[in-house]
Amino acid sequence: MSAPDPLDAAPRQQWSRLGFVLAASGSAIGLGNIVFFPANAYRFGGGAFYVPYLVALLLVGIPLMIVELALGQQRRRAYPQALAAVSGRRGEWLGWWALANCAVVTLYYVTILAWAIGMAVAALGGLWRPEVATPGFDAATMPNPAGSFYRLVSGPWPLLFVALVWAANAWILRRGTASIERAVKVFVPAMWGLMVVLLLRGLTLPGGLDGALCLFTPDLAGMADPAVWQGAFSQIFFTLSVGFGVLTAYGSYLPRTSDTVNDALTVSLLNCGFEYLAGTAIFAILFAFSAVPQASTVAMMFFVVPHGIAQLPGGPVAVILFGVLFFVLLLMAGLSSSVSMIEGVVSALLDRFELSRRRAVLVVCAAGALAGSLFALPFIVDSGTASNGTLGLTLLDLVDHWAFSYGLLLVGLSQCLLVGWGHGAARLREGINASSSWRLGRWFDLLVRWVAPGIVAAILLSSLGQEVGGGLYGASYAESYAPGWAWLAALPVLVPLVWLALAVGLASRLARTSRPRRARLLLLVAALTGGPSVASELVLEAPGGPVAGREATVRWQSREGPPSVRLVAVHQPRSRVARRETLGSLAPGEGLRWVPSQAGLVTLVAEADGAPVTLPQPLDVSVRWARVPWSGVAVLAIAGAILFGGAAVALRRALRDGDRLPDGAGIQPPGST
Ligand code: TRP
Repeated sequence: MSAPDPLDAAPRQQWSRLGFVLAASGSAIGLGNIVFFPANAYRFGGGAFYVPYLVALLLVGIPLMIVELALGQQRRRAYPQALAAVSGRRGEWLGWWALANCAVVTLYYVTILAWAIGMAVAALGGLWRPEVATPGFDAATMPNPAGSFYRLVSGPWPLLFVALVWAANAWILRRGTASIERAVKVFVPAMWGLMVVLLLRGLTLPGGLDGALCLFTPDLAGMADPAVWQGAFSQIFFTLSVGFGVLTAYGSYLPRTSDTVNDALTVSLLNCGFEYLAGTAIFAILFAFSAVPQASTVAMMFFVVPHGIAQLPGGPVAVILFGVLFFVLLLMAGLSSSVSMIEGVVSALLDRFELSRRRAVLVVCAAGALAGSLFALPFIVDSGTASNGTLGLTLLDLVDHWAFSYGLLLVGLSQCLLVGWGHGAARLREGINASSSWRLGRWFDLLVRWVAPGIVAAILLSSLGQEVGGGLYGASYAESYAPGWAWLAALPVLVPLVWLALAVGLASRLARTSRPRRARLLLLVAALTGGPSVASELVLEAPGGPVAGREATVRWQSREGPPSVRLVAVHQPRSRVARRETLGSLAPGEGLRWVPSQAGLVTLVAEADGAPVTLPQPLDVSVRWARVPWSGVAVLAIAGAILFGGAAVALRRALRDGDRLPDGAGIQPPGST
């Protein structure tokens, strides 16, 4: 057990049981399930994909979800802070780096949702007209729905929709878990309901079942291609929401007593169950109309599936109904995911700065809306749409390639190494087992230390190899840019550079002035006698930083002045209950080992002959490490047991009574309302 951290003193928001399951599965279930999965499954050969997919789920997906949830749950902090608590500054840096990547992905994820709003509106009518004149594109008339989509993205409306989706996210996040729960209680059941409707429609189409079977027929030969495995592992990372620390944020709002293994299994299996339904439904609809699924997610979502829907029997009413249903489904699934990504960032900022939730949410969402507008830029840079058509789409494609394909896996890999080797998988496992009914064996350590990082490293290396061999991603687009946009050929180089600079810069900036470091910088030098030279001073040395050290040395350096001093620690000097603790005597040049008995502000005082030696400045130390105050732990545990036990009883009642939250389940941090 490590020493309690002062951060623990602040009450943290907490999920209700049902609320957590809904919110975490809502995070996992998103565009990844409805669009990316069928697109990837088709691209990688359906049956060849499903087996690697299941292997990825078992070997990497579920173990990593356990790790991420456990980090949050055990440390009760957002990702960077939780990683810092288990592996110091490197961990914190990795945490911010992950969130910087997450922020970038969120920017375009939200833009895709903005387009979904546009398409949902179009689905009320315009989307189903056979062809639509799309100004600015070569093919002045394009077959719908592609025509409608290009008309949408080359106009100004998406900019408004981007702002709208960010506003919706801000609204859902405004009160943290309480307001998230309220939203997911509507979205998640509705999502499942709409998915089932879509599935029934798909399977009852002539030929629909064959499409679904195509997805599940294993294809052993296809599995020999490493690209299939890479696709499967990337898909698992994305669909489970692991790799960006988002689940750590959600896990940090779990009570410590929550069953981690069971939580991870519930969320993973719910997610993959939904994906299974979605894959079946989409494959059924597409194959019934021999529409070709496309690897490009944008195409899949905005042309191919709508193209299938357009041919549904039942006349215009059925088409409009299912069309609107599809885009509303995407929106709900997407919103419950984007909310989690933004919460990942917001929670980290809240744990890092003294900020009110309201302000943090506002700042993040306003910045997001501004930056996210980049991906909705309507300039037509390629009228043939070979390089995606508009500037926004081109940017999206390039950014997605780097932040998603590389960022996600890099974070996953580093996390395995830091937690598995640095902190120790066995140590983490002990903590997990302490709260889980299904105990993890040693195989878990093996997975986290060897198997998962090994596989992820192999995937990263092989895709990097392909990158080097096959030319920079997106470079071939240059041939299709319209005159005047030729400079865009620089983007394939610029985007990865900016991505790296931004993510690395942000991480370093945010991790640099972290609490541990700041506390270490509090080494205060005080001159006793006048004159320019320092004659005597109290020096605090905290090797390895306060988090790692848990002890410090206080040195008395004196060339003149009293022969020896008594060192006194005044705890919480600015409170009304300042407590004096005599630490011992010090002769000049001597150091005293000091294990602070309590966290918080401490003023160190030197006394000689019972009177304080005047220092020009008080030696104030902000202690973030301390001896374990067992009595405090006991009170915390008993109070916690009463609170959590009470919450569990209340939850049972809440489930019986309907939607009422258990008492204490929505505790707000100070300043959040
Ligand atoms: N899992 C979500 C989906 O399938 C997307 C998502 C939400 C995500 N949070 C994440 C992906 C965190 C990676 C990391 O659409």
